[in-house]
Amino acid sequence: MQEKIIILDFGSQTTQLIGRRVRELNIYCEIVPYNKFPYGNEEGIIGVILSGSPLSVYDKDAFRTDITRLAAKYPVLGICYGAQLMAFTMGGNVEPAPSREYGRARLSYVDDACPLLSGIEPGAQVWMSHGDTITSLPDHFKVVASTADVRFAAFEDCSEGTQMWGVQFHPEVYHSECGMQLLRNFAVGICGASQSWSAESFIESTVAELRETLGDDKVVLGLSGGVDSSVAAVLLNRAIGDRLTCIFVDHGMLRKDEFRNVLRDYECLGLNVKGVDASNKFFADLAGVTDPERKRKIIGADFIEVFDKEAHSIRDVRWLAQGTIYPDCIESLSITGTVIKSHHNVGGLPEKMNLKLCEPLRLLFKDEVRAVGRALGMPEHLISRHPFPGPGLAVRILGEVTREKVAVLQEADHIFIQGLRDSGLYDKVWQAGVILLPVQSVGVMGDERTYERAVALRAVTSTDAMTADWAHLPYEFMAKVSNEIINKVRGVNRVCYDISSKPPATIEWE
Ligand code: XMP
Repeated sequence: MQEKIIILDFGSQTTQLIGRRVRELNIYCEIVPYNKFPYGNEEGIIGVILSGSPLSVYDKDAFRTDITRLAAKYPVLGICYGAQLMAFTMGGNVEPAPSREYGRARLSYVDDACPLLSGIEPGAQVWMSHGDTITSLPDHFKVVASTADVRFAAFEDCSEGTQMWGVQFHPEVYHSECGMQLLRNFAVGICGASQSWSAESFIESTVAELRETLGDDKVVLGLSGGVDSSVAAVLLNRAIGDRLTCIFVDHGMLRKDEFRNVLRDYECLGLNVKGVDASNKFFADLAGVTDPERKRKIIGADFIEVFDKEAHSIRDVRWLAQGTIYPDCIESLSITGTVIKSHHNVGGLPEKMNLKLCEPLRLLFKDEVRAVGRALGMPEHLISRHPFPGPGLAVRILGEVTREKVAVLQEADHIFIQGLRDSGLYDKVWQAGVILLPVQSVGVMGDERTYERAVALRAVTSTDAMTADWAHLPYEFMAKVSNEIINKVRGVNRVCYDISSKPPATIEWE
């Protein structure tokens, strides 16, 4: 039986972070929409966390859940909106704060007898982000922590038969220095979690489940060279061996030598893999197309067509496996009605193929996928490689995509990425690449006037690609890369560095 904590998602930007923090404690958890608590299928549940939300609890259309029913059975921790909902539902009062409280605060009072706050001292830094505030607590609730501005920064339910705690601040955010301690107090101290969730235990249970579900069926999986699909393939290979066929499509817009190198890696891992060079089709269909969305759509549709044809050349295939991971699913959930991004792993292919879908990593975060890859013995360079977009260099060539432009960009990109590796900077950034700009500018090389292309270097730090900061790379390093690109890549005479963060920019330019 899988012991787990359920996180009810009320639409906060940081719900995923709550999940990550709980998993970092080696405790399995699942994030489910606020109105989808798995009543009737509660095996293994040991506690419930209510997330934050952009809404106000007193709004007519506020998201609600039956907290009394939950708290009669499980310890419940409300965070921000979750805490306000708890207080409001039980008879307390919540009102707009005189001013939005955002940023760092310090606990001025801590009840050291409260199990939620065990080991947390007054003076601990917490992170606030709320527009409403609790102005009175329900009967039987008592305040257990305050800050200078927020009297009910944390509270406890002292009733018989229910177990509730609420915190106005965000323990899941890195800036809450005592956040991990608080979540540990809740999950381990209060809920009794055994902290036994690990990459090895995941592999063991998933391989057993896959064998049971798939039986003797054949499975097909599309490899992209990225860590998610690669780990999914190795995991499936461990479960069903050669009954898994992998297809690796080259659309012609991968990094320099990527197709050949990665294909070799896959073969070394013992995967039954077929490499398909479909680049002519992709370039032909992209000819003359400049609109970013159309480019993406064409590449997506071509990929599906090529993959579908290859997959159906395998006899009796019943399942389509994908390297979908947890953030892909959560991003596609759209609790508040705002679709952040329709991730390409979640849509398109399965509908077209009429196969059953197998997604063995769908409950893992990226860092957990990497841990599973390591535990499966995969080489580090496959596991720690940067994310790379499905449409490849096509979304880094602004304007029409041609073979000639791809060749120029591959050279510049190779110099940048190799430079990051040689300088020990590769693992310090989340993702990096070069963008080929649709402008030419005047330069001088030797005694010659040049009129050539400009490229932009992009490197960002991030933990999940939802937000990102431009990487503060050393000037000496950038000078070296810029020099090398201009000297070695024919057709480029200018190099810029993109210093925009996400939001408001995005990581890719298209
Ligand atoms: P943005 O540009 O939205 O990118 O900030 C966030 C992350 O997603 C990657 N990305 C994609 N990955 N197919 C993918 O598999 C796509 O169409 C796609 N578009 C963006 C991007 O590289 C970054 O890691």
